[in-house]
Amino acid sequence: MMLHIPSVLTAEQVAHCRTVMERASWTDGRVTSGYQSAQVKKNLQLPDDGPAARELGDLVLSGLERSAMFISAALPQRVFPPLFNRYEPGMTFGSHVDSAIRPVTGTPLRVRTDVSATLFLSEPDSYDGGELVVEDTYGSHSVKLPAGDLIIYPASSLHHVTPVTRGVRLASFFWVQSMVRDVSRRAMLFDMDTAITQLNQEVPKSPALVMLTGVYHNLLRQWAEP
Ligand code: NI
Repeated sequence: MMLHIPSVLTAEQVAHCRTVMERASWTDGRVTSGYQSAQVKKNLQLPDDGPAARELGDLVLSGLERSAMFISAALPQRVFPPLFNRYEPGMTFGSHVDSAIRPVTGTPLRVRTDVSATLFLSEPDSYDGGELVVEDTYGSHSVKLPAGDLIIYPASSLHHVTPVTRGVRLASFFWVQSMVRDVSRRAMLFDMDTAITQLNQEVPKSPALVMLTGVYHNLLRQWAEP
């Protein structure tokens, strides 16, 4: 399930991110890659333990906490501290799958990557190329979103970022360990939650709504991992 989640950050927050990123120093993006992806990755990243990544990471996490759609779709158990990257002309990230388990720097924690996420921080008309392309059983999906918008997709998917040919593409990326590991179960719960929210507006007094809400929670109780 790929899902576009609009306005995770406000325009002011995006502007603040870009200001901090303009002043920050960048390192080679291969520092966080596994062996296969390091061979196809050519971009820059903020050091994950540096003050810029920490400050902006907290800003992204607070945006996620406010997003009902993100919480309903990802059912987050643990979110990897957001990382930040930069693609200048000629930079790209070839086809790869994200590592399944990611240790969190400076902690004993590890995150199982069930969901991959990219939060766009540059306006789409400020750069050419730099599309995120995700492959699934329905084909290839090319994604380039307004600044402040988020795309989430199953971390098991092959994906790549096409070469940037003009301008600079700034983004945040991270992973979510979900309470519900199985992607098809997560998708069903998201559909059911979306339908319940809609019914709450259309027929708020219906007793069937109480029953349906009960079924949602009972399914979540069965499927959620502690
Ligand atoms: Ni990736």
